[in-house]
Amino acid sequence: MTHPLHIVILTGAGISAESGIDTFRDAGGLWENHPIEHVATPEGFKADPVLVHRFYNLRRAALSTVKPNAAHVALGQLQREFKGQVTLITQNVDDLHERGGSSDVIHMHGELLSAFCSACDHRWRQVEDLSPQSPCPACQTRGGPRPDIVWFGEMPYQMRRLETAVKACDLFVSIGTSGAVYPAAGFVHLANTFGAQTLELNLEPSQGSAAFDDARHGPATELVPEWVRSTLA
Ligand code: OAD
Repeated sequence: MTHPLHIVILTGAGISAESGIDTFRDAGGLWENHPIEHVATPEGFKADPVLVHRFYNLRRAALSTVKPNAAHVALGQLQREFKGQVTLITQNVDDLHERGGSSDVIHMHGELLSAFCSACDHRWRQVEDLSPQSPCPACQTRGGPRPDIVWFGEMPYQMRRLETAVKACDLFVSIGTSGAVYPAAGFVHLANTFGAQTLELNLEPSQGSAAFDDARHGPATELVPEWVRSTLA
């Protein structure tokens, strides 16, 4: 194909797998032995905030034990060197894209290193543990602060901006995502409808694999640097 002008990239847990962060569906629907609805729904948080804070505290603390891999680094290089526009959307809540050299990463499912107050909507960078006793730094409400994570039943962030980018792009690339969770899983269909080329880079065919014009299967640390090299050539 001719060189694309605007590339939209959607990443999922598979891009961070080789850095040592577990993917979701490979864990059999359990996250560290907790049913997903206990730790990833507003109802679960209301029922047991101690458990939910502990769950995200552990995941936040674990970030300091992992490093970006060659796939994250390659996408950072693409963003810096590609002559056109690159929009990087991730479903991941880790910070490995940023540490791999990317900027303006759109975290549609939130971020472990962020918190917000459900009482006053204030949002801030959160590095330390949270507990039900943590006061909001703005309004001081205890019990207000929660992890800045989009839970099941909540609306992913920046949907209007994301849909506009997907509709306008020339190439849509999906990396390391199972295509099981909407609305992200629907982006490939939107891109196809609006005339973009679509490419999947994943360990194995995803649920939506047949919708892509081209699909390459293997580990992200091999496929992504290879694709970035050919795109920048
Ligand atoms: P999944 O766990 O559903 O899928 C991970 C995908 O990565 C699978 O298709 C794997 O085959 C693939 N994979 C695993 N290792 C890989 C590797 N080394 N290289 C390339 N691909 C690899 O994770 P997501 O699709 O990201 O949402 O899940 C989407 C959303 O579901 C998450 O953001 C989360 C979860 O519910 C929320 O928390 C709101």
